[in-house]
Amino acid sequence: MGSVPVANVPRIDVSPLFGDDKEAKLRVAKQIDEVSRGTGFFYAVNHGVDLPGLSRNTAKFHQEITDDEKWELAIRAYNKEHQSQVRSGYYLSIPGKKAVESFCYLNPSFTPDHPRIANPTPMHEVNVWPDEKRHPEFRPFAEKHYWDVFGVSEALLRGYALALGKEEDFFTRHFRRDTTLSSVVLIRYPYIEDYPIPAIKIADDGEKLSFEWHEDVSLITVLYQSDVQNLQVKTPQGWQDIEADDSAFLVNCGTYMAHITHDYYPAPIHRVKWVNAERQSLPFFVNLGWEDTVKPWHPGSEGKAEEENPAVSYGEYLTGGLAGLIKKNGQT
Ligand SMILES: [Fe+2]
Repeated sequence: MGSVPVANVPRIDVSPLFGDDKEAKLRVAKQIDEVSRGTGFFYAVNHGVDLPGLSRNTAKFHQEITDDEKWELAIRAYNKEHQSQVRSGYYLSIPGKKAVESFCYLNPSFTPDHPRIANPTPMHEVNVWPDEKRHPEFRPFAEKHYWDVFGVSEALLRGYALALGKEEDFFTRHFRRDTTLSSVVLIRYPYIEDYPIPAIKIADDGEKLSFEWHEDVSLITVLYQSDVQNLQVKTPQGWQDIEADDSAFLVNCGTYMAHITHDYYPAPIHRVKWVNAERQSLPFFVNLGWEDTVKPWHPGSEGKAEEENPAVSYGEYLTGGLAGLIKKNGQT
């Protein structure tokens, strides 16, 4: 491969979005607006989350979980006995075939007495956890992390709302602790001496990949990654490298944002390069609740008679979007 240019991924100080200074919030919003109509990616800095702690606790979990435990926690795609685990649980690696492995969990409020668990609704599941005697710190850490990054996401959504000229609660009124379908995925990319060839995909342009091009299925995505460069974003000038930064959250829009804004804020197309290194990728996919619907509009050109996208509930969007991503890029 020739040298790939570095994408413009600005670092934005998001701390004003946690406070009461409206002018300062609008200045952050202006930065979010510019980047959302540019590469689509920015690093959120001054977010208040202990990222070294996140990385340390996740590494401990990935190191200590046994193969037996992985099968006990496996999602339905890997263990047919676990019919209720479509989203949440362990996604196994397959020696010689698939290198990546991950653990996904959903809203900790989804307990057996939650109305959408008691009356089963797609996309809602009770989380599964490894034995707490063997992993006493994992569940408390993981649930705290969910709410920590939920809080960052609330702040970011206030910024996106202001960026789009809306009231600052335009998104957060649909982003609630008892109903959010957001997920955390703790992805481990391993170093392997003899890396399995089937796990390396070759892109049309010859780049070696771990995950092919895609748009995220989310409203926005809030991602921590190890300090190992791997992501690329597609721009009008071609593929560009997104520099790594393990002190900040990498933030981008998903296809729900693209749908409701008629691509005023598109979901950037990106892909994961193959890198033979032990590293973490820990996304929080910001999802609204099952019934929440944001009516599409045309930001920046209000009042013009233009084609309108249909209003789609978040539940319907997520169900179709996740199935479509597996169909396109395979089971993760
Ligand atoms: Fe992605």
